[in-house]
Amino acid sequence: MPVESQIALSGVHKTAFMAATLRAGHYLHADEPKIFEDAYAHRLLEMTDDEIKAFNAKIPGHLLSTCPLRSRFAEDRLAAAVGRVNQYVVLGAGLDSYALRKGDELGSMIVFEVDDPPFQAWKRKRIETLGLNAPMQVRYVPCDFETMSIEDALASQGFIADKPCFISWLGVTQYLTLDAIRETLRWAGARPAGSQIVLTIVEPEGRPAQTTGPRNIVDFTSYISMEDMTKILHDAGFSRVEPLTQAAADEFFKGRTDGLATPDFNRALAAIV
Ligand SMILES: C[S@@+](CC[C@H](N)C(=O)[O-])C[C@H]1O[C@@H](n2cnc3c(N)ncnc32)[C@H](O)[C@@H]1O
Repeated sequence: MPVESQIALSGVHKTAFMAATLRAGHYLHADEPKIFEDAYAHRLLEMTDDEIKAFNAKIPGHLLSTCPLRSRFAEDRLAAAVGRVNQYVVLGAGLDSYALRKGDELGSMIVFEVDDPPFQAWKRKRIETLGLNAPMQVRYVPCDFETMSIEDALASQGFIADKPCFISWLGVTQYLTLDAIRETLRWAGARPAGSQIVLTIVEPEGRPAQTTGPRNIVDFTSYISMEDMTKILHDAGFSRVEPLTQAAADEFFKGRTDGLATPDFNRALAAIV
């Protein structure tokens, strides 16, 4: 039994497997053009390709698309920021594979992967079990957003607070209390000018009906409207908020025959300090 299997994970941690399963299914089975190419997701998961296919077959197209689309949105903006920032903070990293995919191309970019300690331990063991080499630019930052200081956690791993950074926070806010969301965004909004965050929310309309309809694998804690998140971001110190509009998102799904559709209540937005 691999060592990582002995690490106890909660339902919230396991949502990282679900996100990676959507990216893996997209990489392995979606039509061209792919929205996002994650060649590591299926390797990091402990699932066969058939299991990945069967899992994704049960998920409607507007949910299947959420993970590839948000990663595409974040990494397109990150690519545009490279050269101006050389610190990338991946909050709630899960099985994010940016660092593994970029490898030697990371150059001077330092990638800070932040996650709840048990899940991060699982991922690190999994990488070891697979015999993969995480690039030396990766810093692992164990941190529970509800109970620990992100500032202190990052500082302990060499994060330079007075230099700009790019931050992603994908598929995480729905699992957190509003206090933890505001606290983390206060830290993010206090970064030097030119810093940027890309994050996602689940809007209140995405709350499942009490008695019918598909359930999430764990209950969500926070549903936030675009309007409320925009205000929270401005209050936290961000000067500009740039949502991924429905029209821009629709462009990725025009003419597709694989059933993928624009996400409805899962929204992505960027904010600039
Ligand atoms: C749905 S996964 C998303 C993972 C990744 N961002 C992606 O897009 O694939 C949610 C992630 O948030 C992390 N997370 C949830 N609550 C957390 C908390 N209180 N502190 C730190 N990380 C947390 C989980 O461990 C998990 O890795």
